[in-house]
Amino acid sequence: MSNEKKTVRFAVIGCGLMGREFACAAARWCQLSTDIPKPVIVGVCDLSEDARRYFTDNFDTVKYSTTDYHELLAAEDIDAVYCAVPHNLHKQFYVDIINAGKHLLGEKPFGIDKEDNAAILEAIKAHPEVVVRCSGEFPFFPGAQEMIRWIKSGAAGKIIEVRSNFRHSSDMDVNKPINWKRMIEINGEYGCMGDLGLHAEHIPFRLGWIPESVSAYLSNIVRVRPDGKGNTVPCLTWDNAHLVCNVKQGEEEFPLILETKRICPGATNSWNIEVDGLSQSARYSTDDPNAFYYTEHRGREQAWCRVDIGHKPMIPTVTGSIFEFGFTDSMLQMWATFMCEVCGIPVPFGCLTPEETELSHKLQTAALISHKERRAVTLEEV
Ligand SMILES: NC(=O)c1ccc[n+]([C@@H]2O[C@H](COP(=O)([O-])OP(=O)(O)OC[C@H]3O[C@@H](n4cnc5c(N)ncnc54)[C@H](O)[C@@H]3O)[C@@H](O)[C@H]2O)c1
Repeated sequence: MSNEKKTVRFAVIGCGLMGREFACAAARWCQLSTDIPKPVIVGVCDLSEDARRYFTDNFDTVKYSTTDYHELLAAEDIDAVYCAVPHNLHKQFYVDIINAGKHLLGEKPFGIDKEDNAAILEAIKAHPEVVVRCSGEFPFFPGAQEMIRWIKSGAAGKIIEVRSNFRHSSDMDVNKPINWKRMIEINGEYGCMGDLGLHAEHIPFRLGWIPESVSAYLSNIVRVRPDGKGNTVPCLTWDNAHLVCNVKQGEEEFPLILETKRICPGATNSWNIEVDGLSQSARYSTDDPNAFYYTEHRGREQAWCRVDIGHKPMIPTVTGSIFEFGFTDSMLQMWATFMCEVCGIPVPFGCLTPEETELSHKLQTAALISHKERRAVTLEEV
């Protein structure tokens, strides 16, 4: 890090959808009304020249553009890496980045399976000097932050049940050609859980709602897809997953229901968290990002109240508080918390920790067994 300029010099490995999202967040750092050090993109790596061109065309700070990420890891003027590559590459890339002493914001599922995740965690243990986190934007919506405050306040009283889910419908079109996210060898056995699970798990895990066991129902709804070359090929990844987990909190126990769906009619990028309590209930959804809902008692009845949250993010910005908040704002917030963690600035809520990804791998591995053997599986078993 160069302290005098308050910047952290970044490489982006994997310049696809998410690589570009990071670049856009870095480009509008001036929206933050704080002096959190700014990420500056110095190097990019992708096999595709077109993908790299987006960066070289838009950022005059890019000094290295390569197909071989080792070149970036050898560069002394790179402090940190954002790595957003297909899941089968996570282990090798993340381990090499960590061993090179670079800070890392990696992507979910943080290893294609439990073994790869364990190898990444081993590398982290050997390099306590680097800050490693996994991306997760959902909690940075101001409405989600309001939900976290509400949960911590204990307003729910005795918890009846918690539902957290992530849904989209991008696979409803059966004629959509297969891509790497639908191939087991590249995306992994977890299918939709590996893609979407950590998003649904981030807030529950951070609040200490740790599943003891899981009963899973997994669906592979569309089993063949066009390959884009005139053929039809098998599509073996799970499209939808329902996980009923049990969570113990002292003497109390409640179900945590996690749902991840790629085939959910009408959903685009829908994150939802709902907490039912005996005293009060609350819910938040990115479908209605400005609204936080909670119940008030009206005698023996419960009435749902809606509060518009506005633009009141965790890290202050120059944006007026009456304006709406969106996905790209949550990316900027998430990145600001990562930069804080890299620079030793405490944050009330940050990106997913490596330990949370480890828990997710345990849960999703247990879910695979549960579905296969049609039984509840404890996380201790895996
Ligand atoms: N946090 C989120 O909200 C979110 C959303 C979507 C995807 N993701 C995650 O981000 C990661 C990437 O997903 P994406 O949607 O950006 O995928 P993508 O396919 O758009 O981008 C991946 C990029 O990696 C490049 N690549 C492949 N092999 C490479 C190699 N050997 N060396 C260098 N580059 C290589 C590809 O050319 C491509 O440009 C995945 O882990 C995915 O799960 C996260």
